[in-house]
Amino acid sequence: MIKVGRRRVVGVIRGVRTYHFDSFRRGDCVVLRSVLKPDKASLSKPLENGSQWQTPYGVFGHDEIIGKKTRSTIVNKHGDKFLVTHPTLEEYILHRIRLAQPIYPHDAAAIVNLADIHVDNGCVDPDETLHYLEAGTGHGSLTLAICRAIHSANVRNADGTVEKQGAVLHSIDRNQNHSKVGRRNVQNFRRGMYSNDVQFHVADSPAEWLKTQQDMQLSGVFLDLPSPHVGLKAIAKEMRLDAPLTVFCPSVSQIQDLSEEVNQDADIPLTMITVAELLPGMGGGMRPWDVRSSVVKETGQIARVCRPKVGSKMVGGGFVALFKRIPDGIRKPRITNQPSQSPSHSPSEETSWWSRLKSFWKS
Ligand SMILES: C[S@@+](CC[C@H](N)C(=O)[O-])C[C@H]1O[C@@H](n2cnc3c(N)ncnc32)[C@H](O)[C@@H]1O
Repeated sequence: MIKVGRRRVVGVIRGVRTYHFDSFRRGDCVVLRSVLKPDKASLSKPLENGSQWQTPYGVFGHDEIIGKKTRSTIVNKHGDKFLVTHPTLEEYILHRIRLAQPIYPHDAAAIVNLADIHVDNGCVDPDETLHYLEAGTGHGSLTLAICRAIHSANVRNADGTVEKQGAVLHSIDRNQNHSKVGRRNVQNFRRGMYSNDVQFHVADSPAEWLKTQQDMQLSGVFLDLPSPHVGLKAIAKEMRLDAPLTVFCPSVSQIQDLSEEVNQDADIPLTMITVAELLPGMGGGMRPWDVRSSVVKETGQIARVCRPKVGSKMVGGGFVALFKRIPDGIRKPRITNQPSQSPSHSPSEETSWWSRLKSFWKS
């Protein structure tokens, strides 16, 4: 049913619940921002009747906010005015308490953009669901960005449940607490509008989790974990032909290691398409880099760090590599510093590898 008022339209359009964020309800997380000093901002927990919100600028009752219009003004005990709004995705991610380092939301959007996902409920067969995989879940920043891209493939009923699951993201983390935080961050963003787009799983690795699934054909993979090369072969084997696999790494040396591994292992059916640096801002100037060796907490191994420097709280920057699933059995060129002995490593063989791959795509 659709109720049309002079100022707003509320209700259900073609079986899909419409969301209105023109006022605040119980369960909403809200942003408080000083009117005079807009850089002073705070994010609330989900609003609850009778609860108090302790901020650096004073204590506010949740009941002062529930039911108010967005962009309402509230006042602290000193008479300072604050605007209350629904958080943008960026405000939400950056202000939530974190256990894992999130990908900066604009970077997450760029990574998803690189994967070039175009799905909606019309382009998926009625009896088909497209499966996407992400590891690790962490703070849920990349999760939300991926959900946004696949959201329109899922048709929802008026009560918010899914009528047709056209696409689903499987988000894997080996740390149960990180998985819980990621799930909660999705649930508490915009009244959980993306909750039905994702399923959270705890497993030692994405490859281990895939072993528990039968014939999962992945339409896209997103990796942001300390050892993205582990299990890459098993993941790639479960990908659809030409499906994208993006890897986010803070350090460009990790991307280089990954690229070498993919190139040297003929059994990993992937080819590298693009490597890009995620720039934290616009403009010129000098950019400090962090170049050192460090121990990876999760694996205990020593890794080379070679990346632009970032602040401790402010995230942003890093590198992303895009790979694509290629047919099984396509031989890849190997770069050696030895004079060519075998025809398989000669430049002409490399040329023929590319021409075979190109002719495969054309066919
Ligand atoms: C940097 S965080 C991911 C942040 C996330 N992409 C975001 O944007 O919020 C890395 C996550 O990978 C998880 N992780 C580490 N090794 C893993 C593995 N082998 N399998 C699954 N998750 C893993 C960690 O527990 C951590 O939560």
